[in-house]
Amino acid sequence: MRVEKSIYLDYQSTTPVDDRVMQAMLPYFTDSFGNPHSASHALGWKSSDAVETARAVVASTVGALPEEVVFTSGATESNNQAMFGVMFGNTTPRNRVLVSAIEHKCVKESALFFGNKLGFVMEEIPVLSTGKIDLQAYQSMLSDDVLLVSIMAVNNEIGVIQDISCLSDLAHRAGALFHCDAAQALEAMDVDVADWGVDLLSLSAHKLYGPKGIGALYIDSSIQNNFPALIQGGGQQWGLRAGTLPTPLCVGFGVAASLIQSEGEAHRSALRVLSDRFLERLSNEGVGFRVNGDRQCRHPGSLSIELIGVDAESLLMSLQPKICASTGSACNSGMIQSSYVLRAIGVSEESAASCVRFSLGRFTDESQVDEAAKLIADGVRSCLI
Ligand SMILES: Cc1ncc(COP(=O)(O)O)c(C=O)c1O
Repeated sequence: MRVEKSIYLDYQSTTPVDDRVMQAMLPYFTDSFGNPHSASHALGWKSSDAVETARAVVASTVGALPEEVVFTSGATESNNQAMFGVMFGNTTPRNRVLVSAIEHKCVKESALFFGNKLGFVMEEIPVLSTGKIDLQAYQSMLSDDVLLVSIMAVNNEIGVIQDISCLSDLAHRAGALFHCDAAQALEAMDVDVADWGVDLLSLSAHKLYGPKGIGALYIDSSIQNNFPALIQGGGQQWGLRAGTLPTPLCVGFGVAASLIQSEGEAHRSALRVLSDRFLERLSNEGVGFRVNGDRQCRHPGSLSIELIGVDAESLLMSLQPKICASTGSACNSGMIQSSYVLRAIGVSEESAASCVRFSLGRFTDESQVDEAAKLIADGVRSCLI
């Protein structure tokens, strides 16, 4: 995708709204604006039908029942709700919560925050240099005092895919519940909550060519009775999440999910080809690089690479506005810090400063990949430290 003069290679950060999604949403901003919770008139019924249709599609996309899917404002809220619901609703003596070392901050921080407030100890499960969970360490951490395990399906920085069925099975054997942050998953693979054996699963529409501001939390029906809502109010969504639902956003999420169902696999194959082409072009241009994380088990459009000897921040600055991508660093309290994900897989501070995440998506094509590789190679030549 080109946005004015930019080649967009930051799809894991957010995706553009697909035009088919946009067209489906528009009437619900204007003519069909009724409150979906207004039970006494036709406009309300129309919105409610649209919301419930969308819920059914999102649910079927992950193999769930509609009544197991609660709309939220995004994966951040879903992850917070998962942590809060399990910890606040706990009636057992279990007091440990395990999250992987490479979880998104909204999992780590909410586990820590609610854990501190509610008397749980949060512990991090280490990963190997491939980015995969360290199974030996994980197994040794599991015992009958673990309440909840949270492990993401696809990492947002290095694109590594975890074996969720195996990990959830181990958690269940120890009697723990299993939550999976699947915000990045549907672009990369088919998701089925039953096959994966998860109790809770978080989704986000804006990673799927849907709108920002809407996500969902799958809550297995067997745990819903004892699952307090983070957002209290008018009892919408069976009391699991109060607040008037944004009909256009729900509709957009539903259409985005249905497009993934019908086009997902073809799209993933295309992404694999484009990613390989991008790396090949970089190599042909003489750029020295190393790919972070497992090469096989990964999101097909996600490439976190170390550009050897290059300062990634300076490179991306020099490429503005031509290329949109992300570096492996974040600005925390005014200090540039290397990403904890890269640190967790053993990347040194120095190498992390040379890492860029390029993420390709639905609207990336060969000409963009070729042009981007050329621009990057030119940039690297003038940026070598
Ligand atoms: C893995 C993962 N989890 C959670 C989130 C947060 O999602 P949202 O922006 O929908 O709150 C993101 C977004 O970057 C993500 O990549």
